[in-house]
Amino acid sequence: MKIAIASDHGGYELKSYIIKQYANSEHQFTDLGTHSEESCDYPLIADKMADYIVNKKADLGILVCGSGIGISIAANRHKGIRAALLYNEQVAALAKEHNNANVAVFGGRTQSKEEVMKYLDIFLNTEFSNGERHLRRIAQMG
Ligand code: RB5
Repeated sequence: MKIAIASDHGGYELKSYIIKQYANSEHQFTDLGTHSEESCDYPLIADKMADYIVNKKADLGILVCGSGIGISIAANRHKGIRAALLYNEQVAALAKEHNNANVAVFGGRTQSKEEVMKYLDIFLNTEFSNGERHLRRIAQMG
């Protein structure tokens, strides 16, 4: 799968960790930045990711900021982006099964690396249910 990943400075460490963990996997990662812990603005990072996903340059995205909140809000302002903050195993599955989320979001300062890797694995290995009611609701969001 083609996966784009991006973070602000608050998510930089976790982003780097995720990339390393998947280094020898079947997935192809593209790092959209930021590339250091120097302070930067998460809305601009979310814009970059949205552009990448909407233009189908990757199958899925991963975004990280300090809390996961700011970058979720910013990403979800874009038509066609369904960014989900994954905070437990059930939500990691439901975000794909019901919402067909195309961006997984994490908080670099609020979540442990272990839990993030667990939720990401579930998210990547869960299929959208394709149920009529879920398709209808997603279509209603545009
Ligand atoms: C940056 O300090 C921090 O505000 C940002 O990473 C994020 O947590 C915002 O929601």
